[in-house]
Amino acid sequence: MTPPNPTTSPSSTPTTSPSSTPTFLILGAGVIGLTTALVLRAHYPTANITIAAKHFPGDRSIEYASPWAGANWASFAHDNGPLEKYDEVTFRKFAEIAERWPEVGIGRMGMWGVFDARIEETDLLTEATGKIWYDELVGGLRNLDETELPKGAVFGLEFPSTFRINTQIYLQWLQHRALTHNITLHRQHFPSLTALLTTFPRTTLLINASALGSLHLTDVHDTALYPTRGQTVLITEPATPIPRMYFRSPKRVDPETTYVFPRPLGGGVILGGSRQADNWSAEPDMELAQDIMRRCVELAPELGRVEDLQVVSHNVGLRPSRIGGPRIELERSSHRVPVVHNYGHSGAGYQSSWGTAERAVELVKKALSPAAKL
Ligand SMILES: Cc1cc2nc3c(=O)[nH]c(=O)nc-3n(C[C@H](O)[C@H](O)[C@H](O)COP(=O)(O)OP(=O)(O)OC[C@H]3O[C@@H](n4cnc5c(N)ncnc54)[C@H](O)[C@@H]3O)c2cc1C
Ligand SMILES: *[C@@H]1O[C@H](CO)[C@@H](O)[C@H](O)[C@H]1NC(C)=O
Ligand SMILES: *[C@@H]1O[C@H](CO)[C@@H](O)[C@H](O)[C@H]1NC(C)=O
Ligand SMILES: *[C@@H]1O[C@H](CO)[C@@H](O)[C@H](O)[C@H]1NC(C)=O
Repeated sequence: MTPPNPTTSPSSTPTTSPSSTPTFLILGAGVIGLTTALVLRAHYPTANITIAAKHFPGDRSIEYASPWAGANWASFAHDNGPLEKYDEVTFRKFAEIAERWPEVGIGRMGMWGVFDARIEETDLLTEATGKIWYDELVGGLRNLDETELPKGAVFGLEFPSTFRINTQIYLQWLQHRALTHNITLHRQHFPSLTALLTTFPRTTLLINASALGSLHLTDVHDTALYPTRGQTVLITEPATPIPRMYFRSPKRVDPETTYVFPRPLGGGVILGGSRQADNWSAEPDMELAQDIMRRCVELAPELGRVEDLQVVSHNVGLRPSRIGGPRIELERSSHRVPVVHNYGHSGAGYQSSWGTAERAVELVKKALSPAAKL
């Protein structure tokens, strides 16, 4: 790899002078660890960067959330603050990726969101403004007509243009990009943080992108973390192409949300879903699967009847949820090296990935800046 020209790269700061080339260690190779590694590389062209993890793209395990996501961009944020910002940064980055590299699994598509409650009860509105913050970003939301709404629905919104993700292809691309940017991959399960830092004694700074994984590390325990079980059904593309994504829900986030996400690049269609807090069960629940399929055919007429669906697989993933939201924070005290946390993205890991990675790298810069050492 030819290092980028230092005069034009963001790394031309005192923190990366050759005499102090930092050595970064990232724990976790889900969408968060991989994206953070790429943003880190863009800011530190000559640093040593290693991603250490038990699971990498291609693996399918209940301990690895990323392959199981739907996935799409449909923000849950309404804080008039950092969470909206993370999703906005990611939306713009997805637009750039979809435009430049149509083959990497991010595609534009419209969506219909159908709600079974009044808008004030849906958590769609940002309290401070009384508006839906991403209205313009998605091309101007349109209210669905009565005739477009399924029976019993209260209202619906068309998102003219958002993103859907073929997670299988996109994760592989992130990993491939890491490799072409001289990021080292190291596969190992670490029973503890002590074991991790013993294996990598030269680490300058650790990025913690281990999601639910650290509940099993013997010397750490963030009790704010909990799984939110999500079950989906992957089906083949139906004879009638599906022109848009669909979701239906009483609220933006609800245990009973129904969704239909056609994946780009021959990825089939994901039917969902469920949101079962504190449930670790990895076994598909076949009764729930029937219920998901029934709800989906009701919502997306292109699917036909339940009997017409060709099931490829029943899937279960655990969203890394966290009381208080994602933790993106610099911690200097409790460990030998500074730690930047980037975990607990729950059901929003893809749609907030680039924004949270940029925030994490800002914190890395803060931790390594000469002023910080005074
Ligand atoms: C059904 C479902 C639908 C979803 N839909 C969407 C969607 O539409 N849009 C969206 O944005 N998000 C969606 N999500 C959420 C998204 O999948 C997660 O937020 C995201 O994958 C979290 O990524 P992560 O990198 O933090 O965690 P993970 O992908 O779980 O990665 C954790 C990494 O840490 C490693 N690790 C942990 N502990 C250790 C250890 N002790 N030693 C070594 N390695 C360790 C693991 O091996 C792994 O590499 C959905 C999730 C599910 C389950
Ligand atoms: C790639 O990274 C390794 C280890 O971090 C380093 O020793 C090597 O010099 C780097 N190669 C290039 C071409 O930058
Ligand atoms: C990493 O995050 C986990 C939760 O995923 C937390 O329990 C743990 O304390 C963190 N590790 C470090 C190095 O602080
Ligand atoms: C967890 O989810 C499974 C599958 O839906 C269900 O059978 C089981 O009863 C749930 N367990 C708990 C503790 O809620």
